[in-house]
Amino acid sequence: MYSKTQLAFKYLSYFFTSSNGKGHGVHSPFVFNFITKILNDKTPYPEYEKVEKLRKQLLADNIVLTIEDFGAGSAVAKTNSRTVASIAKNAAKPKKFAQLLFRMVKEYQPQTIMELGTSLGITSSYLSLAKPGAKLVTMEGAAEVANRAKKNFQILDLQNYSLIQGNFDHTLSAVVNDLSAVDFAFIDGNHRREPTEKYFLELLPKTNNESILIFDDIHWSSEMELAWETIKNHPSVRCTIDLFFIGIVIFRQEFREKQHFTIRF
Ligand SMILES: C[S@@+](CC[C@H](N)C(=O)[O-])C[C@H]1O[C@@H](n2cnc3c(N)ncnc32)[C@H](O)[C@@H]1O
Repeated sequence: MYSKTQLAFKYLSYFFTSSNGKGHGVHSPFVFNFITKILNDKTPYPEYEKVEKLRKQLLADNIVLTIEDFGAGSAVAKTNSRTVASIAKNAAKPKKFAQLLFRMVKEYQPQTIMELGTSLGITSSYLSLAKPGAKLVTMEGAAEVANRAKKNFQILDLQNYSLIQGNFDHTLSAVVNDLSAVDFAFIDGNHRREPTEKYFLELLPKTNNESILIFDDIHWSSEMELAWETIKNHPSVRCTIDLFFIGIVIFRQEFREKQHFTIRF
């Protein structure tokens, strides 16, 4: 992974070279709608409060969980036991991005949602609440973390999820096989080049014109930047949106020419 200083320089470069986040000069109706209706939507949806209340409880929870290390996902802990509070602080997506995913699900209405990397279930909860009628499949390798996520889902009374516990390398292909389509997926675990490219290729056969894939931490390391380049260049990808901390992949055929946007958020 990049050092804090390297990341700060990268972020500054993103900040000063990205489009201003207001949609000026964006000719694609899809991307213009994304910016004006979703990215800049400041509505305080009631679901936000529910999930953030849970996050607050987890941030104060000093129970220690044993975690297996499945990849390069943790920038902080090297040991295999961490408090719930530390996991909530370091692994869960901050509310700015988790709430953006919530708004995307609300707007695009996917039937099938996947998440690779449940952790304590903060972002999964946002995805579930955004469309209770959708099917959410969330996947987590660490058994104690997965069990805690299940408890959290019970607290929020979520009904539309299944949590698959196990290493993605062993569980993903069967899960994808069982789904009729992957309409929306958040890939947020095992932040290394080869697994990230592999997960992309495994999800691809079940994507369609409206599918959206979101990759976390695309600028976190040179490996992740290479993976992001490979994904951007794949022939089936028609448009990408780089928000620095996440990268969004779109397959819509209305993009006759491949287009890449970098937007300030
Ligand atoms: C960054 S956290 C996910 C955070 C969560 N999406 C959120 O925003 O609340 C990544 C999770 O992926 C899990 N993970 C990483 N590599 C994995 C693998 N190969 N198989 C299964 N789980 C894995 C880790 O155990 C960790 O809990």
